[in-house]
Amino acid sequence: METIEHVGKKTQSRRQFFAKVYQVGSLVTAGAILSQLLEACGQNPLTGDVMSLQTVQGTAANGMVTLTVDTNSPLSSVGSGAVVQFNGGSLLVAHTGQTAFTALSSVCTHQSCLITGFADQQFVCTCHGSKFSTGGQVTQGPARTALTSFATQFSNNVLTITL
Ligand code: FES
Repeated sequence: METIEHVGKKTQSRRQFFAKVYQVGSLVTAGAILSQLLEACGQNPLTGDVMSLQTVQGTAANGMVTLTVDTNSPLSSVGSGAVVQFNGGSLLVAHTGQTAFTALSSVCTHQSCLITGFADQQFVCTCHGSKFSTGGQVTQGPARTALTSFATQFSNNVLTITL
């Protein structure tokens, strides 16, 4: 009886040992696979403070989006940026000069996440860290292609974006 119990304990102990080895091995393997996937995806973790863009409502009609930019608008000051939402989509808009604005596609050219961040006068895709200038050019990958840009016109506090 003693021998059987002893053997039984030993067997159980070996099982536990190998189970732990297997678990650790699995975790290491999973970590290595995740690391390779992130590398392959070109993941580029964000650093620094990224502000979430405020949303402004626009009106779409006849191939144009219009919105009022007054003193209460998140786009009122030069250097600001916002997401403009309208029936059928959204755009990134930056106030780049006294009466100058840029309007860009809000869909990241890397893997199509919606861009929602803004930091240091750049639009930031929080999915993998791509950054774009207010003119739409890539300033940090993994994205390689610029955002589509749309013509803007500003008059009497109304910004008009031609789609
Ligand atoms: S979808 Fe990957 S950085 Fe935007």
